[in-house]
Amino acid sequence: ACERLQRIRRHVRLVPDFPSPGVLFRDISPLLKDPDAFKAAIDLLETHLRATCPRVDYIAGLDARGFLFGPPLAQRLGIGFVPIRKKGKLPGPTESVSYALEYGQAELEIQSDAVEPGKKVVLVDDLLATGGTMCAACELMKRLKAEVLECLVVIELLSLKGAEKLQPFRRHSLLQYD
Ligand code: PRP
Repeated sequence: ACERLQRIRRHVRLVPDFPSPGVLFRDISPLLKDPDAFKAAIDLLETHLRATCPRVDYIAGLDARGFLFGPPLAQRLGIGFVPIRKKGKLPGPTESVSYALEYGQAELEIQSDAVEPGKKVVLVDDLLATGGTMCAACELMKRLKAEVLECLVVIELLSLKGAEKLQPFRRHSLLQYD
């Protein structure tokens, strides 16, 4: 697992001052481009979920980069994938929640029938920063009366304290940066 984590870390490119001055962007393009590194990421996410959330019903992915990791993971587990999108992209009826971003303001939306009441869901995204996006996704699950088993990300930016904001929800990340 350690070797695979190092391989994944080597394929995350750090880009200063993107998308705005002072922001150090974590670019996962090299990870997606390298089949062995990308497979290592999906392998580790799968192993983790099989151990911690064996009864998960759906993987819900967050627009847009959660759509890169969520579907292959759901396929591995033999369960369905549900998209949580930026507002205005899904035909209704829908539920929506607005939230503050690391840079800006946005709104997430899900189709009202995407997850049935009582179902167990794992939320997947590429990155946990302030946690605003993931919290909004948790709120959407609450609206649909679904249970969030865990919030799962590839990268966690520890200094932005997303884990604190997410409490009491469980979260897990493959890579952590200060
Ligand atoms: C990024 C990232 C997460 C979110 C994390 O997405 O992919 O979804 O920000 O930030 P937070 O923890 O501070 O909320 P972004 O909103 O840039 O959208 P994109 O995936 O469509 O590029």
